[in-house]
Amino acid sequence: MTDKLIIFDTTLRDGEQSPGASMTRDEKLRIARQLERLKVDVIEAGFAASSNGDFEAVKAIADVIKDSTVCSLARANDRDIARAAEALKGARSSRIHTFIATSALHMEKKLRMTPDQVFEQARLAVRFARNLTGDVEFSPEDGYRSDVDFLCRVLEAVIAEGATTINVPDTVGYAVPELYGNFIRHLRERVPNSDKAIWSVHCHNDLGMAVANSLAGVKIGGARQIECTINGLGERAGNCSLEEVVMALRTRRDYFGLTLGIETSQIVPASRLVSQTTGFVVQPNKAVVGANAFAHASGIHQDGVLKARDTYEIMRAEDVGWSANKIVLGKLSGRNAFRQRLQELGIEMASESEVNAAFARFKDLADRKSDIFDEDILALVMDESVTADQEHFRLVALSQRSETGERPQASVTFAAGNVEHQAQSDGNGPVDASLKAIESKVQSGAEMLLYSVNAITSGSTESQGEVTVRLQHGGRVVNGVGADPDIVVASAKAYLAALNKLHSKLERVAAQG
Ligand code: KIV
Ligand code: ZN
Repeated sequence: MTDKLIIFDTTLRDGEQSPGASMTRDEKLRIARQLERLKVDVIEAGFAASSNGDFEAVKAIADVIKDSTVCSLARANDRDIARAAEALKGARSSRIHTFIATSALHMEKKLRMTPDQVFEQARLAVRFARNLTGDVEFSPEDGYRSDVDFLCRVLEAVIAEGATTINVPDTVGYAVPELYGNFIRHLRERVPNSDKAIWSVHCHNDLGMAVANSLAGVKIGGARQIECTINGLGERAGNCSLEEVVMALRTRRDYFGLTLGIETSQIVPASRLVSQTTGFVVQPNKAVVGANAFAHASGIHQDGVLKARDTYEIMRAEDVGWSANKIVLGKLSGRNAFRQRLQELGIEMASESEVNAAFARFKDLADRKSDIFDEDILALVMDESVTADQEHFRLVALSQRSETGERPQASVTFAAGNVEHQAQSDGNGPVDASLKAIESKVQSGAEMLLYSVNAITSGSTESQGEVTVRLQHGGRVVNGVGADPDIVVASAKAYLAALNKLHSKLERVAAQG
């Protein structure tokens, strides 16, 4: 059996199913480019048949990514599969990932299909997909809770139809490591043609065991593909986290004995990009990518690390892409230096006018903040007002007054399309007053589910504040992110960014729907 392990990243598909994490085509493209730099083997770019927006995103990614296989999810029907194939047409290497639920619960209650109907549909879907491409993955959704005899029957049939990868999802995060590992091994031993396919694990994190289960699927079960997401992004408690599983396999190569193609120094940049794009903040004590992952606070630890690093460190921070905050640019930096830094950060702007808009924002920021770090530049290009994404609402100006013992007041000027509005309000604090002022004009009626502030670069109040606002309206949940040295301004930007997402009519079908 090969010792090469395939890393299949599904941040842009399963990760995106997390409420509020939906991304625009350009945001997905930016993340796909970073995943390519990270050298993931497969990028699941989306679910092409779910919406026109997702189709366009899969297509755009397929057209530009050269070093990773680009994949689209498709339900087990001809329309979805044809749509996936169409979106993937421009890819150098492509995969269709088709799925249908196989657990009794899902078949009976959700699909309202008999096992024989599911069996037939799975078989025909793989046959149809194999006529369109040579690389077909099949997933029995809720596979881990499926009847094992029925599952073996389905898997044998889809391999016979030409499925090249068999993925076994623990869709609801119910598995425990030893049992999941044995389950994969049992399937591989029982399905007669199992050696004709690569076996894959796909674990959700509802009980906090997605990484452990995936590793057991590999070690005990003999799987050779892991499906995972950056920062463990995903519905509910998320998916198996790429950074954790990759670093476990690399750090404990002595135990797992597997080869990975991942460029680990790109892990932290990928984590930051996904967090800044989606507004899903990384907890400080998160393994590998959390701000504290390599920080030693206790005197005993600091002393030990200074004497010999490996007393308390099993990985090197620089190996996963942590670098000390570097001052990269300042007020006097010119357009060429800015453009070069964008290139070094792997940021490609679609047009010269986007570079100009970003440079103008950079100058504006450099006037107010003496040192500009990589994180500031990333936040700046993430700002919707310098990207080509259709933004309807845009902040023009904001002033606010707060004083001990007085109720804060805010006055906000913002554009909605071509019309400029001015609004005033008071509030419990200056942020509350500013957002109420905006809402008094927009009247979105959206409910705020989350408001959070983080320092973009740690360690100092000179940092820009990065604000995430999560809004819910009409069954949709969206996140808006805004950054500025002034957190009231950052909050107004985040609120308008979230309103922009609500404003863009993005319909999609949930994969597990
Ligand atoms: O969790 C799951 O079952 C999935 C499938 C669509 C692969 O994401
Ligand atoms: Zn999933």
